Amino acid sequence: MTAESMLTGRASLITGLSAALLGLAGVACNHGRLSSGTAVASSEQASICTGEKTPPDRGPPPPRPTGRYFRPGSAQRRNIREPGMPGVWLNLSGRVNDEDCKPVARALLDFFQADSHGKYDRRELRLHGHQFTDGQGRYVLRTIVPLNYLNRPPHIHVKVQAPDGPVLGTQLFFPATLRAYGMRVGRLNAHARSFNPALAVHLGPRRGNRYSARFDFVIAVA
Ligand SMILES: [Fe+2]
Repeated sequence: MTAESMLTGRASLITGLSAALLGLAGVACNHGRLSSGTAVASSEQASICTGEKTPPDRGPPPPRPTGRYFRPGSAQRRNIREPGMPGVWLNLSGRVNDEDCKPVARALLDFFQADSHGKYDRRELRLHGHQFTDGQGRYVLRTIVPLNYLNRPPHIHVKVQAPDGPVLGTQLFFPATLRAYGMRVGRLNAHARSFNPALAVHLGPRRGNRYSARFDFVIAVA
């Protein structure tokens, strides 16, 4: 499957990822639905859904050779933060809703990001993973805050797709209150064409080396 053809069929991303999963037997990952334990506690807050569709990104893409549309085939896992991985921890959670603000169960989310040095894994294995929302449309991602690269604001690439729905490719950003790696996030956001405040996560206070954040997606389902 080529990168471009990945988006030509509405279900092709899920198909590709599912096929890849079959070939990834034995890879450490969290299969199955999200639990209702503490990991999703911050998702229990009232939805902030407005019905406004989450906008797509406006580039630029990850550096080559990753390309604009990274390949399907990431591991299924909610935790893409590897043991010993340096960086400020980030627990991101939220919901995937449709345009009527109804939760989308079994929505696919595929996250990919740079590390605390602003580098992507060219194999697209590290800091890359996909998961599915639970019956209430909830997701949880355990990761690290990415360092900015070049003059880009720090961001996380994400693709979201309802079952048999179109693929939304976008990026999540951070507010100026983020304190990590000496980044001047407000300044980076202000000078970046790619920054969209509608795509900024809702960031909680930093506690030690950890942030919690929330972002709710609104996607088309057909
Ligand atoms: Fe990027």
